[in-house]
Amino acid sequence: MRYNRFGKTEMKVSAMTLGTWGMGGVGWDRYDDETKADAIKAALECGINFFDTAPAYNSGAAERFLGKTLKDLGARDEILIATKCGTFFVDGMVYRRDCRYESIRNQCEESLKNLQTDHVDLMLIHWPDLNVPFEETMDALNTLKKEGKILHIGVSNFSVAQMKEAGQFGEIDAYQPQYSMVNRDSEEIIRWAYEQDMGIMTYGSLGGGILTGAHRVQKEFAAVDSRNRFYKHFHEPMFSRIMKLLKVMDGVSGEEGGKALSQIALNWSSQKEFVSTCIVGAQTREKVCENAAAFDWSLTEDEIRLLDEAVDALYA
Ligand SMILES: NC(=O)c1ccc[n+]([C@@H]2O[C@H](COP(=O)([O-])OP(=O)(O)OC[C@H]3O[C@@H](n4cnc5c(N)ncnc54)[C@H](OP(=O)(O)O)[C@@H]3O)[C@@H](O)[C@H]2O)c1
Repeated sequence: MRYNRFGKTEMKVSAMTLGTWGMGGVGWDRYDDETKADAIKAALECGINFFDTAPAYNSGAAERFLGKTLKDLGARDEILIATKCGTFFVDGMVYRRDCRYESIRNQCEESLKNLQTDHVDLMLIHWPDLNVPFEETMDALNTLKKEGKILHIGVSNFSVAQMKEAGQFGEIDAYQPQYSMVNRDSEEIIRWAYEQDMGIMTYGSLGGGILTGAHRVQKEFAAVDSRNRFYKHFHEPMFSRIMKLLKVMDGVSGEEGGKALSQIALNWSSQKEFVSTCIVGAQTREKVCENAAAFDWSLTEDEIRLLDEAVDALYA
């Protein structure tokens, strides 16, 4: 495992963060509790020290599962937890935003209970709530920080203008955008956040799984599945273009003695100077270990150039 500084914070984070959206049990393939707990144990064994979760991942279910498993493993003090606030998952289908002062305070208390801890290392605003002034949300977060319930404040899915505005009312230490070979939409915002010395934790690092090569035939996912509603590139026109990219990745894999495509995708992201840690959602020991092994080797400059050309062709 490689470890990186996380912006201007004192945190040293593993180059891979384990994401727990799937572990909430909605929007992704489902596994039994034993399998998921073993994936978390494997993450610790591979040297992963950063875990990302949110109350929106099935109304606290992912937080509760992570909290219970870390408690069972006695691992809370060895690792760092990032959770989020301001977005609720309602009726098993709809996401709703609420970043009002009292709501943020209550959500944090609920998250601490779910996670069975007295503090989280990082609390991110999940999505901007345009109905509530950033000043009000930041006030709530600053108070939670003073109380020692959250150690750092971050934002996810914000624009530069939104970060500048929210940043007037408190220190923003981290930015969590989507970023991968199949989604570079936020790259300019990321570079700006990096210049401000924020820790950058990128999500969807495997493009929701498409970059592993496990989905080479287009299929229909359930309406609530994240590969249907969130990661749109599982559908045309992007699907066919990504299949061409996978062929280039197959070639790099061949040159590297058969390295997994997931490892190529993770190295492509994590070798960017502005990425502190790639968040990866994986719910089995095998997948966690396969992904974590990405950080035992690196892509060469020639390989990165070849991959960059194939990535550029996605948008040509
Ligand atoms: N801030 C935000 O708005 C936001 C949005 C999205 C995600 N996130 C965070 O980022 C995390 C990662 O993103 P994500 O989970 O959406 O997408 P992702 O990590 O790009 O992809 C997850 C998918 O890849 C599969 N997978 C993982 N490793 C694999 C391997 N080696 N071989 C084959 N398949 C593999 C997973 O399978 P299984 O699940 O079946 O194991 C799952 O279907 C989330 O869990 C969440 O913590 C944050």
